[in-house]
Amino acid sequence: MAPVSIKEVAARAGVSPGTVSNVLNRPEKVAPPTRERVERAVRELGFVRHGSASSLRAGHSRTIGLSVIDIGNPFFTDIAAGVEEVASELGYAVILGNSAGDLSKEERNLLVLAEQRVRGVLITPSGEDPAPLERIRERGIHLVLVDHPAHRHDQCSVAVNDVAGGSMAVAHLLGRGARRLAYVSGPLSIRQCQDRLAGARQAVRQAGLDPAVALTELSLPALNARYGQQAAAELLGSGLPDAVFCANDLLALGLLRGLLQAGVRVPDDVALIGYDDIDFAAASAVSLSSIRQPTHRLGRIATRLLLDECDNPAGHVHQQIMFQPELVVRESTA
Ligand code: RIB
Repeated sequence: MAPVSIKEVAARAGVSPGTVSNVLNRPEKVAPPTRERVERAVRELGFVRHGSASSLRAGHSRTIGLSVIDIGNPFFTDIAAGVEEVASELGYAVILGNSAGDLSKEERNLLVLAEQRVRGVLITPSGEDPAPLERIRERGIHLVLVDHPAHRHDQCSVAVNDVAGGSMAVAHLLGRGARRLAYVSGPLSIRQCQDRLAGARQAVRQAGLDPAVALTELSLPALNARYGQQAAAELLGSGLPDAVFCANDLLALGLLRGLLQAGVRVPDDVALIGYDDIDFAAASAVSLSSIRQPTHRLGRIATRLLLDECDNPAGHVHQQIMFQPELVVRESTA
C-alpha cells in the first residue's frame, strides 16, 4: 500500500499542502482550528512523514546525538535517561554512540551523527583534544559538553566539580582516622580521574600529611568492576591501606567483592568509598559510601541547553554550568 501523501492529507483537511507542511514543521504558525483539522486528517489517514525528506528540506533531522564513554556504566545510562526525557518532550529522538574510551571510535561516531544530520550533539569526550569537536562544530552542528567543563565561553557545558568531590571523599576517610590511603582509578588520561586525584591530594595536604607518603595511587586500564577486583588483589599483595577511595562506584564494588572474598572486613579492616552513587551502591552486600553526582539532571539540563541553542540561536546564551557533588555515607565507611 503506497504511503499516504501530504496532498491526500491536505485534501482531507480542506487546506493546501503548504498548510499541512506548516502544521508538521512550524505548528505555532497555524491557527488552532486549522491545525486541529490537519492533525485529525493525519491521524485518520495514518500519515507518517518521511524523515529523510523532511530533514533534507529542513537541513537537519529531529534527532540529537549522545556520545558517552562507557554505556556499561549506570552513570551514563542515568545521563541518557535524562537526555531522552527532554528530547522526547521536545519531539526529538536520540542516537546513542559509545566510545568505550577509544578516541578514534568516538570520532567515527561523531561523523556518523553528522551524516545523519542530527540537530546537535551531547558528548562526554574521551580525551582532552578539542580538534574532533571543532570539526563537528564547523559542520554547523551544535554541541554541548556533558560531565566535562568547557574552557571557552562560546561552548555550553554541564559538569560536576570533581576536584571538590575527590577532596570530600578523602576528607571523610581522614576524618574516620585513616592515615594510609589508596586512590584506585582508571586511566589518568580521563579528566574526571585526574580531577578526583587532585582533590584527594588536596585533602591529604589539608590534613597536614604528605600525599607522596599517605596516598598510594593505583591506576587501572578501565573503570569497571572487573578491574576493581584486580585492584583488590594488588592491594592485598602490596599491603592493605586503612582506607580506599575509588574513582567510581563500579571500581569500588569490584574492589569490595575482592576484599570480602579474601576475608577482609569493610569498614573494620579497610574503609571504602566510591563515586557516582549509582543505584547498586546502596544495594551492595556492604552498602557503599559514595560521592553523589546529579546525573539525571546533568542529562536533562544539557539537552535543554542544546535544543535552546539549536532552536533559538539568536536568543541563546551559552552557559558553563558546574554542579557541586554530595557525600553519601553508608556502611562501607560508617
Ligand atoms: O567515566 C568515568 C567516570 O566519570 C564515571 O563513572 C563518572 O564518574 C564520570 O564522571
